[in-house]
Amino acid sequence: MTVCEYKPGLEGIPAAQSSISYVNGLEGILEYRGIPIQELATHSSFIEVAYLLIWGELPTQEELESFETEIRYHRRMKYQIGDMLKLFPNDGHPMDALQTSAAALGLFYARRALDDPAYIRQAVVRLLAKIPTMVAAFQMVRKGNYAIMPKDELDYATNFLYMLTEKIPTPYAAKVFDVCLTLHAEHTINASTFSALVTASTLTDPYAVVASAVGTLAGPLHGGANEEVLIMLEEIGSVENVRSYIETRIEKKEKIMGFGHRVYKVKDPRAIILQSMAEQLFSELGSDKYYDIALEVEKVVEEKLGAKGIYPNVDFYSGLVYRKLGIPDDLFTPIFAIARVAGWLAHWKEQLSVNRIFRPTQVYTGLHDMPYIPISERM
Ligand code: CMC
Repeated sequence: MTVCEYKPGLEGIPAAQSSISYVNGLEGILEYRGIPIQELATHSSFIEVAYLLIWGELPTQEELESFETEIRYHRRMKYQIGDMLKLFPNDGHPMDALQTSAAALGLFYARRALDDPAYIRQAVVRLLAKIPTMVAAFQMVRKGNYAIMPKDELDYATNFLYMLTEKIPTPYAAKVFDVCLTLHAEHTINASTFSALVTASTLTDPYAVVASAVGTLAGPLHGGANEEVLIMLEEIGSVENVRSYIETRIEKKEKIMGFGHRVYKVKDPRAIILQSMAEQLFSELGSDKYYDIALEVEKVVEEKLGAKGIYPNVDFYSGLVYRKLGIPDDLFTPIFAIARVAGWLAHWKEQLSVNRIFRPTQVYTGLHDMPYIPISERM
């Protein structure tokens, strides 16, 4: 067997062959099934994009309508899941609530053969349909309210914002939110997708696959960064403070949240789209001082770290957009998860078609032949 060089974080090591998405980090290109992200963000909807990612091609009108109808029909969650959410601590993080409830879904749907197309379709529809309901329900119950039931006549994005806020959003706000979902739906083999692949490779059920990916997405170096960005902008407090704050953070070797990417060495194409949406939103709904701070942060970070290829990533502007839509900060990462379920499921399905269990190797750095010391003799 060839012995490969150990690469921390598996940097540059292919972990799968995939035809789902493509990133060129030097030119700032992202494509889903070959279609540039800009085209999809402009012309498509999140559900159409989910179909594209999971089934491999854009749906016909009829296919899209039947996929949307199935998802609408399955949005309601089991009352036991609602009861379970009420038992969670109100101050617990919504990502923990989501991970638990995603895993709990598996209790209700009997595991079937993973080569049964009907089972695959059922799992895809249920996960896409119910995850937003569970995120919104936790938000309601932790405030001491009843969960809001989904409204069948509302589309995916509108319905989620309605369940979250009890208000029907404007078509513009729902459209912006839907584009955010499209931008977060898939991104090759990132940490949470790798986690999903490893879990899928054991041939466990899809609810466990999604639950393990949600747990991975929650960390501040991955999906959790969008929440951290807002904390950082608040700490900075004013445009005048930006330079000294960033310089101090760089001196202390602390990461600037929302910047840098393992693959992109230029500005993330999703950050470019999100920034222009943020600008439009602020011009429609009123300006935001944190956007001005963010612009200055981008300028100073580019000046200081641009030469190292450190530019805004998808998380830098997304939180500003979500906050303007009235979404609480600790739901930013669960919203990332709502979108990324599409990518995780696409990779789950692809993994099943070529499955071999993940079992990498390690470079052992420990000792050998050590004596066993009885506990009474240990120092
Ligand atoms: N601020 C300051 N310096 C940075 C940053 C940053 N945000 N990101 C990377 N660097 C520096 C790092 O200090 C290192 O410098 P040096 O070579 O002098 O020691 C160099 O760039 C390489 O950094 P790394 O941490 O080894 O790079 P990585 O590919 O392992 O990490 C990353 C990628 C995304 C984890 C990292 O850039 C980071 O921690 N960013 C902040 C958190 C963040 O915004 N995460 C969201 C990522 S995008 C969405 C997602 O995947 O969920």
